Amino acid sequence: MGLGKRHIILIGFMGAGKSSVARKIARWQHLSSIDIDVYLERQEGLSVTQIFSERGEEAFRDLETAFLETMPSRERTVLSCGGGIVIRQRNRELLKALGTVVYLRVSPENVLRRVGGSSNRPLLNGAIAPDELLRQRQQLYEEVANLTVPTDECGINQVAREVIRKLKARGEL
Ligand code: S3P
Repeated sequence: MGLGKRHIILIGFMGAGKSSVARKIARWQHLSSIDIDVYLERQEGLSVTQIFSERGEEAFRDLETAFLETMPSRERTVLSCGGGIVIRQRNRELLKALGTVVYLRVSPENVLRRVGGSSNRPLLNGAIAPDELLRQRQQLYEEVANLTVPTDECGINQVAREVIRKLKARGEL
């Protein structure tokens, strides 16, 4: 495994549980974890919603790309990515090169229940239905992923255990 190719990277739609699952895996496996949204909010001194409204979505995507470019030199990390990180081809290339990409899959039917009523997610502003946005992105998540873990029927602990089981089966933990 190359130096950069060792991170554990969680991708998937809003509401899939990426942030909580990343924290659990990191705690149980004694690894560090980074939630990219939280990292960028601290770095910029603005919420994700403010970055979107003051600078636009492209500027936020630029921050995501710049952040991913810093990952090869970091210690092994469980990374929780924002749901839209896969939109850019450059990000998809970076993700694939950085480590094992785990897709936490939530079905379009469940997305509405999971993210309904979020006020801190700028893309859920009514312009597009969340289940439709997920349908548009599904193929990109699948294209980048090395592993897929379904989350519809599972709680955070169960999902985290399943990710660990699959990584162990691949000799990556
Ligand atoms: C986004 C998802 C959010 C955040 C931003 C854009 C998206 O992250 O990065 O609001 O495009 O799906 P979560 O998936 O952690 O909610």
